[in-house]
Amino acid sequence: MLITNIKYLVNVREEIKLLRGNELAHLPILENAFLKIKDSKIEDYGLMSELKDDDFNDEIYDAKQATVLPSWCDSHTHLVFAATRENEFIGKIKGLSYSEIAAKGGGILNSANKLNETSEGILLEQAQARLNELILLGTGAIEIKSGYGLSVEGELKMLRVIQQLKKQNSIPIKSTFLGAHAFPAVYKENRMAYIDLIINDMLPIIAKENLADYIDVFCEQGFFTQEETEKICFAGTTYGLKPKIHANQLNISGGVQAGINTNAISVDHLETIGDEEIQLLSATNSPIATLLPSCSFFLNMQYAPARQLIENNAAIALASDYNPGSSPSGNMNFVVALACIQLKMLPEEAINAATINGAFAMELQNEVGSITKGKRANLIFTQPISSLSLLPYSFGTNLIDKIMINGNFI
Ligand code: NIG
Ligand code: FE
Repeated sequence: MLITNIKYLVNVREEIKLLRGNELAHLPILENAFLKIKDSKIEDYGLMSELKDDDFNDEIYDAKQATVLPSWCDSHTHLVFAATRENEFIGKIKGLSYSEIAAKGGGILNSANKLNETSEGILLEQAQARLNELILLGTGAIEIKSGYGLSVEGELKMLRVIQQLKKQNSIPIKSTFLGAHAFPAVYKENRMAYIDLIINDMLPIIAKENLADYIDVFCEQGFFTQEETEKICFAGTTYGLKPKIHANQLNISGGVQAGINTNAISVDHLETIGDEEIQLLSATNSPIATLLPSCSFFLNMQYAPARQLIENNAAIALASDYNPGSSPSGNMNFVVALACIQLKMLPEEAINAATINGAFAMELQNEVGSITKGKRANLIFTQPISSLSLLPYSFGTNLIDKIMINGNFI
């Protein structure tokens, strides 16, 4: 298929590399372009003026001045959950903090109770409905975590739901084991016993059944310490699961240090970091710093210092953190807008962070995240827009006209 008359073809790259520091502001764009798709992949691209008569023998789709972007790569979500938590939302409106709600048995433990009561079939149905919504909002690759089971059966059930989602969807999905999301109430006084359960009972089955690609720990005061995080991540790596860590959301937790020490792919959140953490994330091979601004927005808490991270050469990705407690939205268009409005990222930086760097945070950089020959044709077609900045500027307006997944409009 030949797609003609693309106003801006966005993030066109021959060479694929993780973008650090000021590289993030460079977003390569072809103006007045064409794109060729063959067998679900990007075959070629270029300027309309370069097309020859022969090229028009293909099936033609006239984009009529649409802007075309690679689909969003959402590298951090908790898409599988059993129930929304709007009652806690009311508590929050009335002044309770996220930590206070969690301490009262709300929060993650509340979600875990509901999840353990819900069947695999229902969980799958609900998660699929959410995923369908996200695909129409431009998400073309996604990571999904467990972490609301907190029991052997519950965690396995969640991971099996994610495995089933992988089978029944045509976008790439990565699965992360987050058994260390919170301590179940019965283990409050015996933390080691729960960590042993994760390491000795959950991990071997997960590895044997190939149920996860990554391991994650909520490294936070009141949750898992740096030492516990490292122990769990090292156990995961012995089974081939690379760490992606919840770090420094609410406190200076040692999460970034744990990420460095365990060779994590990414450290996510980072709302609460100091100079030491920023320095650690500036090293050339340091983990990706995945920022989740819709979580700060929903909890009405501080945002991660994106500008400082960029100035210090960190590699920033953006993700939605879709979950029922701290970000009940997986809309990456809104994440990109918030990144501009609150993290002070330029539209070019935000789009790179939500596409190519997000792809790297899921090790999918050879499949998605840019307009590159041989990559999947997972694409967003916008309505006619005056400039790319209109996308984050028009926050809350859906400017997506069409979605293509593996070369097919859906
Ligand atoms: O990424 N911070 C820990 N986990 C989720 C929230 C989980 C929940 O509240 O259900 C997050 O924000
Ligand atoms: Fe999260």
